[in-house]
Amino acid sequence: MKKIVRIATVVLALSMSLSIVAGCKKDKKDDGKLKVGISIPTLQEERWARDKDTMEKACQDAGIEFVSNVADLDAQKQKAQCENMISEGIDVLILAPHDAAAAAAIVEDAAASGVKVISYDRLITATDKLDIYLSFDNVKVGELQGEYFVNNVDKGNIVILSGDPEDNNAKLFKEGAMNKLQPKIDSGDYVVLNEQACQDWKAEEAMKHVEAALNKSTDIVGVLAPNDGTAGGSIQALNKEGLAGSVVVTGQDAELAAAQRIMAGEQSMTVFKDTRELGKEAIKIAQDMFAEKEIKTDGQVVSNGVKDVPSVLLTPVSVDADNLKSVLIDSGYLKEADVMK
Ligand code: GAL
Repeated sequence: MKKIVRIATVVLALSMSLSIVAGCKKDKKDDGKLKVGISIPTLQEERWARDKDTMEKACQDAGIEFVSNVADLDAQKQKAQCENMISEGIDVLILAPHDAAAAAAIVEDAAASGVKVISYDRLITATDKLDIYLSFDNVKVGELQGEYFVNNVDKGNIVILSGDPEDNNAKLFKEGAMNKLQPKIDSGDYVVLNEQACQDWKAEEAMKHVEAALNKSTDIVGVLAPNDGTAGGSIQALNKEGLAGSVVVTGQDAELAAAQRIMAGEQSMTVFKDTRELGKEAIKIAQDMFAEKEIKTDGQVVSNGVKDVPSVLLTPVSVDADNLKSVLIDSGYLKEADVMK
């Protein structure tokens, strides 16, 4: 018995000293060099590949050590990947959560290890340990979609789609869009044939929901699609009825395929969020956090349910066939030869 107690004491002492080492394991910080961890939810949408590339390039240019992972739409996988990065000794974690609430556990783990977290593009909810939120004004994104919609759809049958229910942005986009659409629904100008969320932002989900609406009536005048992927799925469904081009379809992300559809007259608009700026800003903030400099937020906060999180929000831009060249091509975001293919 005594022996067992002794062994238990040794194990306990050992694990305590290990956890103390883990608690102040800032080996990287000790060498005075910043190491950044980057966690991206998916590469399914073109934008996330751009975010990843931009951040990696910004790290390379600044001589910052980094490690990056893609969670492939899997919250568990994202947690495991982030935990690995934390134990590898990163100082700052740039985390674009697949699941807003599930990612709270990652933030708590990071905080316990002295790792700062930047909630990247999507807000992490349900934790008071989050350091900063860096994104675009996402209600404004929805408002730009809604504004375009009401300016171009007078009355008739419409479809309202939203993004993944676990993504906080999806709620904000819809809130913004409904600020504009709701009065037209209330007045009876718009009749909503189908209103659905698209799981994991999948184009096939959007296609299915638009098909369901088309089964009720092919007399549809507008589809509020929350991003370019779901716009593409919606247009595929409309195409089957020969309706692509005669129905207003919104979007977001300025993907190449969307720009091509806009110039071909199939998609009406997209919202440009310059991921080059967002990615660079993330690395700048990581550097400032590491140097313990104050992050300039101009007092801006966004509530994540339990905390008013200091926030840096960039400005989104509405793009249609009229300004696509000046906004997307002249800025070098897309190449004219690719868009016009
Ligand atoms: C949102 C993001 C959008 C879009 C979407 C699908 O959170 O803000 O830009 O990419 O996810 O991944």
